[in-house]
Formats: sequence, C-alpha cells, structure tokens
Amino acid sequence: GARAEPLLSVRDVRKTYGSFEALKGISFDLMPGETMAVVGESGSGKSTLARALLRLDEPDGGTALWKGRDLFALSPAELYKLRRDLQMVFQDPTQSLNPRMTVYQLISEAWVIHPDILPKAKWRERVAELLVQVGLSAEHMSRYPHQFSGGQRQRIAIARALALEPQLIICDEAVSALDVSVQAQVIELLDRLRREMGIAFIFIAHDLPVVRDFADYVMVMQQGEVVELGTVREVFDTPRQAYTRALLAASLSPDPDAKAGHLASVPAEAADILIPKRSH
Ligand SMILES: Nc1ncnc2c1ncn2[C@@H]1O[C@H](COP(=O)(O)OP(=O)(O)O)[C@@H](O)[C@H]1O
Ligand SMILES: [Mg+2]
Repeated sequence: GARAEPLLSVRDVRKTYGSFEALKGISFDLMPGETMAVVGESGSGKSTLARALLRLDEPDGGTALWKGRDLFALSPAELYKLRRDLQMVFQDPTQSLNPRMTVYQLISEAWVIHPDILPKAKWRERVAELLVQVGLSAEHMSRYPHQFSGGQRQRIAIARALALEPQLIICDEAVSALDVSVQAQVIELLDRLRREMGIAFIFIAHDLPVVRDFADYVMVMQQGEVVELGTVREVFDTPRQAYTRALLAASLSPDPDAKAGHLASVPAEAADILIPKRSH
C-alpha cells in the first residue's frame, strides 16, 4: 500500500552564528505518531535544530515540510496559526512558566491566543481534565508554579502544550533536570500521550537509557551534522560510529563527571561490554 506522508520532512537545514556553522545540513523524516530521539554531546546543535524548526531562531537554509507545507516559507501570520500543531517543552519549566500566573491561567492562556479551540465556558472543565491527564489534580489549578516540585512543574508545562492539541511536541532535555525516578514518571506520561493521542515527539536527550525505552528512531548529532540515524535497535545494538559507541558508554558510566570532551578516549571494546544487548 501507499506509504503515509511524513508529518515533518526536514532537508539540509542550516544555521550559522556569524561564521560559526551550528547546523551543517540536517535532514530527516518524521511520520505521524513517531518518536525520534536526538542525541549528541553538548554543543552539537540539538537545541539549535529545535529552535530552527519552530523558527524561534530563523534558519539560514534548507526546508522543513510540515504535512507538505514549508515552515520556513510561511508568513508570520501563517506560522502563528500553525504553531499550535507544534509545541515545545523546555528543560527548565521555571523559566517557561510565568511565576505570577496560576496554573489555570497558564494552561488557558493558549486559548486566549487560539480562541477557536474552546469556548470560554468550557475552560475550567478542560483545565481540570488536562491536569488529571498529566497526573495532577483539578484542585491544583488555583496554585502558582512555585508551589510545585520540579517534576510537577514539568507536568504543568506538558499540560500547557497539550491544551493546543498538538501533533508534534519537541522536548528539549525536558527531563534532564529531574531526579531519575521523577524522570521515569514523566517519560511514562509522554509515552502514554504518544500511545493514546498519537502525538509525535522529537525528544532531545543526553540520557541514552531513557531514549532506548521511549523512542522509535535515534538521530546522533556531532558538530552540527547527523552522524548516525536509525531505529533505536540499529543504533543501540550496532552503532556504526565510534562517537555513538562512546556516547552510549558514557551515558551508562557511573561517573557523573564523564563529559563529552573525553568521549573520544573511550575504547569501542569498553562500549561493547557496557551496552547490554536486548534479549528479544
Ligand atoms: N545564539 C547563539 N549565538 C552564537 N552561538 C550559538 C548560539 N546558540 C548556540 N550557539 C552555538 O551553537 C552550538 C550548538 O549549540 P546548541 O544547539 O545549544 O547545542 P546543544 O543543544 O546540542 O548542546 C554551540 O557551539 C553554541 O555555542
Ligand atoms: Mg541544548
């Protein structure tokens, strides 16, 4: 049968800061409901890519077809309308949540901007629903961000993204700042949203075990380029690049100071021992 159209088809995306090439031609396809993880050492261009796709920073070249329409060619007004389909969740929810707004205001803000989504009479009911959906409760809507833990704040940020009924959520290190146990809970939430609502994800992470359980595809970035792209299985079980093997090894290392800077010195054999093979 005919293969479905990609949700997002990215070709040769470039971004320079002055003479520095932060993105040197990134290409990939994402199908509806799929999750692609983007991994790579710090400074490899992951956030730049996310920001360029949403035009939070204007890209310098390439195309990004959203259901066939080039995001990079849209007028500001068209982009504004389309933004509701593509949401982003950032690493630090304290920065993306206005401390002076209640949870109700934070979540319903989206409907002020996009009034066609929901009539005002339905807002309270829908905020309550969204809070329950992300594992909080309706009573939380009158509270302020500082009254929540980091994990709960990230749930609020996710509820806020969901309020617009997006088809793609880009998570930029959305769980990286959370404790490991809280990370697992938020990932479980994202996984449920993917399964129940068919939302596609671009999941930027440096935590490889998390990626392994959550993603369908993995794109590995190094210095603004894609050095590896494949299914989770392909990339984890048979990484083609020494760089990828080193990333995998470092993420499983108990040494919290293991930094990208000395990844190159990790021998491939060590990586092979450290990466547990899937038994199925
Ligand atoms: N606004 C900017 N001005 C200049 N250089 C930038 C800017 N944003 C990012 N960079 C540079 O681009 C490179 C990629 O950054 P980034 O996308 O944040 O990496 P990552 O998210 O993978 O850690 C880095 O070398 C960074 O210093
Ligand atoms: Mg980043």
